[in-house]
Amino acid sequence: MVVIGVKVRAPTKVTLFGEHAVVYGFPALVAAVPIYVTVEAEPSEKLVLESGPIVLNSLEIEIRENRIELGGKASQEVKKYFSYIVSALEELGVNKVKLSVKSELPVGAGMGTSAAVTVATLQAVNKLFSLGLDKKDIHKIAWDVERKVQGKASPMDTAASTYGGLLKVWKEGNEWHLKNLELPSEFEFVVGVFKKMKTTGKIVAEVARKLEGPNGSLYWEIMKTIGKVVEEAEKVITKYDLEKLGELMNLNHALLEALGVVDSQTAYAVRKVIELGGYGAKISGAGHGGALIALVPQDKIQKILSVLEMVGAGKTFVIRGLAKGVE
Ligand code: MEV
Repeated sequence: MVVIGVKVRAPTKVTLFGEHAVVYGFPALVAAVPIYVTVEAEPSEKLVLESGPIVLNSLEIEIRENRIELGGKASQEVKKYFSYIVSALEELGVNKVKLSVKSELPVGAGMGTSAAVTVATLQAVNKLFSLGLDKKDIHKIAWDVERKVQGKASPMDTAASTYGGLLKVWKEGNEWHLKNLELPSEFEFVVGVFKKMKTTGKIVAEVARKLEGPNGSLYWEIMKTIGKVVEEAEKVITKYDLEKLGELMNLNHALLEALGVVDSQTAYAVRKVIELGGYGAKISGAGHGGALIALVPQDKIQKILSVLEMVGAGKTFVIRGLAKGVE
């Protein structure tokens, strides 16, 4: 029998400005980056999910009234890992498929890997079974999945993975907007990935509690100020003004610290980058570990990459250029 399968890949992202505030509709700038999640799909009599060394077959997967349950032998960690895929399949009503997922970064690294896994899964199944979904549909379903698994979520990460490029994301009234921005081709930034200490869902929920708490009005001021920093960043980002952009990154980072989402390890790493002559640095994503991004003069890149490793980054790299959306 000839098995015809499909292979798709979706990019991960870095949030350049505006994480957390975007959950409440304030603007954010997000860049899809050429680090991918790949999903191969082929028809199967039963549901089989593979990811690197992890294989879940029908022994661990139960399907009850179209709900997929990862029972028995699957550990919590494995369940979490596959929860985005399972939820995506449930949204599409598909459970007879074999999916092989490969990610260049661990899920939960703070670079939108969960969104990329979701988007790639949806597009792979869409192509395999010719479901006729366009990118708008894929994005909508992927965002639904993120909200289901994570709780509160903005459409930012799923939009970056679906459409690619550099996007401004914001909400006006009840409507979310996406705007494509151009980034100069020579644009590059340094990334360090630190051990993630809390899930995005948990951190987003903690921030929500602060906004509702006795000092809520002060935390809302922080959110508004983040929104203003993003508006300024939009003005300078297309001009490749690294000094101004770096300063805005530092400001955004300080506001995230005030929100309480920065752990001491990444706080120290950001300080080190600035001390060593970086234009600016900030955490990127939900915080408490995860990604750090930095704008750095060419001649300081190597030094700053090795210092990031010294202060605990498990992975460091330089990103040049943007990625296209899922394909
Ligand atoms: C997570 O990558 C970014 C947050 O702003 C959450 C979201 O936008 O859904 C913290």
